[in-house]
This record gives sequence, C-alpha cells and structure tokens, in this order.
Amino acid sequence: MARTLITSAIPYINGIKHLGNLIGSQLPADLYARYRRARGDEVMFICATDEHGTPAELAAAKAGKPVAEYCAEMWQVQKDLADGFRLSFDHFGRSSSPQNHRLTQHFAGRLDAAGLIEERASRQVYSVADNRFLPDRYVEGTCPNCGYDRARGDQCENCTKQLDPTDLIDPRSAISGSTDLEVRETKHLYLLQSRLRDRLDAWIDGQEGWPVLTTSIAKKWLHDGDGLQDRGITRDLEWGVPVRKGDQPWPGMEGKVFYVWFDAPIEYIAATNEWADATGGDWRRWWRTDEGADDVRYVQFMGKDNVPFHTLSFPATLLGSGEPWKTVDYLKSFNYLNYDGGQFSTSQGRGVFMDQALEILPADYWRWWLLSHVPETSDTEFTWTAFQTDVNKDLADVLGNFVSRVTKFCRSKFGEVVPEGGSTGDAGVILVRRLSEGLARYEAHMDAIEIRKAAAELRAMWVAGNEYLQEAGPWTVFKTDPETAAAQVRLALNLIRFYAIVSAPFIPDASARMLASMRAGEADWPTDVAAALEALPPGHAFEVPEVLFAKITDEEREDWATRFSGTRT
Ligand code: 2FM
Ligand code: ZN
Repeated sequence: MARTLITSAIPYINGIKHLGNLIGSQLPADLYARYRRARGDEVMFICATDEHGTPAELAAAKAGKPVAEYCAEMWQVQKDLADGFRLSFDHFGRSSSPQNHRLTQHFAGRLDAAGLIEERASRQVYSVADNRFLPDRYVEGTCPNCGYDRARGDQCENCTKQLDPTDLIDPRSAISGSTDLEVRETKHLYLLQSRLRDRLDAWIDGQEGWPVLTTSIAKKWLHDGDGLQDRGITRDLEWGVPVRKGDQPWPGMEGKVFYVWFDAPIEYIAATNEWADATGGDWRRWWRTDEGADDVRYVQFMGKDNVPFHTLSFPATLLGSGEPWKTVDYLKSFNYLNYDGGQFSTSQGRGVFMDQALEILPADYWRWWLLSHVPETSDTEFTWTAFQTDVNKDLADVLGNFVSRVTKFCRSKFGEVVPEGGSTGDAGVILVRRLSEGLARYEAHMDAIEIRKAAAELRAMWVAGNEYLQEAGPWTVFKTDPETAAAQVRLALNLIRFYAIVSAPFIPDASARMLASMRAGEADWPTDVAAALEALPPGHAFEVPEVLFAKITDEEREDWATRFSGTRT
C-alpha cells in the first residue's frame, strides 16, 4: 500500500485565520489528503498551531492572559474551525508540545555535535520605548533589496528575501512605532547553513518535477551572493523552547529560547509524535528512512513566503543532524489570494475570516470556490460577485440541480427505487466514454496536484451528466417509451453516486449527503466507469435528498459585501 505523508504549513496561533490563509496551505493539503486516501493510500496528514514567538506573546498580552493559557484557548478555536471546514488532519498538534521541546532540543544538540552551531555575540535591536529587545519581525523598515517600505526584520514579504533587522533602512519598532532604537549586544546560537550549501544544492538538484515557483525561490536564495546566510536560531524571549543541547543545559544560553522558525517545522515531526503518543501508532515509519520512511512520499503545502524556510532552513536542520530523517519529496507552494481589490490582512482585519465564513455558509461552498480558484500560477482575487456567480452556477445549477431533477423525476414515475429494464443505447455509451476520459484527466491533475485543472475537469464531468440528461429527456421519453426512460434514470441515479465519490475531496459534506440519499454503502473510487455506473442495481432503494446547494441571492451578496467591506474589530 502506498504511503503518503502530507504536511500543511502550521498557522500562527495569534488570531483566527482568513480565507487567504486557508487556501494558501491547509485547504489544498486537505484536498490532496482526501484524494490520496480515496485512492487507497495510507495517509498521515499533519498540521498544528505555530505557537512561539513574539506575535503570540503580544496577542496574549492584548487579551490580558498568560501566554500558555492564550495559546491553549486559541488552539481549540483553530481546531474547531478546522473541523468546521472539514480539514481531515490525522493530527492537529501544537508547536509548544513537550514532544516538540524534546525534538527541537535534540536537533540543536545534533547540529552542535556536527560542528554546525556557533555561538556569536550579536548586536540586536533594543527598543528603549518598549523596554525590550525587538524580535526581527517587530522591526519594520525599508527593504535593502527591493525598496519595499514596510519590510519586516525577518523577511521582506514583497520580494521574499530573508533579512536581518539591522539590514533594514530607516528601522522603527512595529510595536510602538518608536524610532528610538539601539543596537545592544547579546549572545546567540547560529546555524552554519553556509557550510551546508553544497549538500542543499545537490539535494534540490535531486528533486524531480518540483513546481517552478518552488525551485526558483530556493535556487535564488541558495546562489544569490548572500543567499544562504548563517541563521541565528535563538532569541531573548520567555515563551518558546528553552535552549538546551539535547537533554543537557547549554552553558551561556540560560533564559533564551529557540527561534520560532527553528522549532516550527520540527513540529511536523513532533506532531506525528503527539499522534503516536495519543494513539499508540508508530511515528518512525513516517519520518525515519532507516525505519520504513524511505517508502513514504512526503508532500508539503505552503504559501510562497514559506518556501525558503522549507527548501533551505528546515532541510539544513534535517540534513545537518546527520541522522536519516525523511525530507520532502514534493513541495507545493501558492501565491496569494486577494480580497476585493486589496489584500487579506490579519493585522488590519480585512477580508473574510474562517469563523465568519462558516457563519454565513456551509463549508462546501467555500471549499469549492476557494479550491477552484486557488492561486496556483498567479495571485487571484476573491470578489463577492464572482463567488455568487460561480457557486450558483457550478454547485446549484449544475450539480445540485442534476441531483434534484433526477431523484424527483424518478420518485414521481417509478418510486424511490432504481428502475429496471430498457437500455440507454448509444447516448449511454458516449457518456461513459466522456466520463472515462474525464476521470482519467481528473486523476492525472489530482496526482500532479494541479488543483485548478482538477476542479475544471470535475466541473466538466458534472456538466456532461447534465447534458446527457438534457439530451436524453427521460420526462418526454417516458410518455412513449417508459423502458428507455427507466434505463436513462437508472444511469442518472448511478451518476449521482459516481459524482459523490469523485467530488468528495472538494465537497465532502455534499458528497456524504449524496451517498446517504443513494444509500450507496461502500463507495470505492471508480476504476471502471461503466461498472461504476451500474453499481446501484435495479430495485435498489434511495431517498430524494434535501436541496444540496441553495443559491446565493443578490440580497445576500450585497449584504455580505457590505458587512465585510470594513475591518474586523
Ligand atoms: O507563515 C506561517 O503562517 C508560519 N506559521 C508557517 C510555519 S510552517 C512550518 F515551518 F511549520
Ligand atoms: Zn524586498
């Protein structure tokens, strides 16, 4: 049995994520996990909350709560929302877990033993007004690489360059806006990534078929002069993984914690440990190539800003440890989804957030629209008009209407059972051929994680069913030739089951309702379309389902557009 390990970039703990975050990693990862499971793979699908670092500390302070308490509460909020969107994680972990503390300290110890860690006195930005050292991302200024004037001290989100805060031109505190900044000396551990350049280069060259977006970003930072710099992996903060060398103290590093970007990707492994501790499962066969993980295909999902950390920093940790850890086989990265003429923004509360989305519509509406418009090759934009138009057309007019027409017509003429007799003739043969070809293309796109193409192919299969029904016209045929009408309806009822199975990765709730109404029982992925369209035999009882997808009215659209035009308070 093929085994697939899937990780989604782990969302920051502070605050509820917006739809741009959701479609930038977790949702496409879920689509793929559901698809691989449906194809019979053994899947381990991992996500978690990214809980360390200053954003968490500041958000907790703002909420007036101890940071540990704040994180525990927000983890639950994010977990519930993930469930609401039907994200089918095998485990949704926490980067603050004891398992991650242990593993992060383990990796640091190994890297140190391999001579890849160096203690350096560094000069760090101290904000006199804020009375604290400012972590990288809390220093803002102008990017020395591209001139973007709101670059953060860890990375410029405009050009993706990884930065040090002292690189910024005209720096200011992002906490208070104060420019009364000093550079003070403190000691930190540095990971000597530069020594791993050749190994990383060879490792990236050894990857086959990575998306251009991924490889180009990786190669750019590997070769662009100062690309692969040694990285400070510790911070002067209280909340985080305490700096230790394995289970030993690290002299001189007391009171410091590891940098959030050092421990966050390690949480992929730690979350699998959390899963193993909770279930008695074996995490090693997913992560250790000496214990079975060499058979695993490991696929990562993330937004483009995360690519350098996953193609350089995290592999540096894994390769540098000298231990046989599983590294990523395929890395799928995404551009940004914009919101109605601007950017989604957590800090400005701009856009639609996961909790709000589920308040107004069920998950499948969002899943379908977001996945079929996923920003794969360029940034894309959410507008309420496009959302209304696409959802009404694809889900209500095409799929929903098909299900409703077929089941209701059958009930009125034959009762709630699959009718017997007759033949669908050439039209049936042609439909089977169209669907066989469509399914093969759909599978190929899903295998390649070409999500938009897959969505288009799925939609085309729904349309083919509608066209068949329209042309066959069983409601007219019934008047003169009830036998043929029975065969046409039988085929169409089977199509509902077929659609439910192949659409489930995109719209799992509607699919489950379609299967339930067809009383379909076992619903294996179709290997032979002709056979799949005979799975429900004559005499098989079903139930007409409730309306699958209600149309979004103009009034609702206007309402929501107004409601979500401002900023969230
Ligand atoms: O960009 C983000 O949302 C980060 N929290 C992603 C971390 S992914 C990984 F390294 F764990
Ligand atoms: Zn820049």
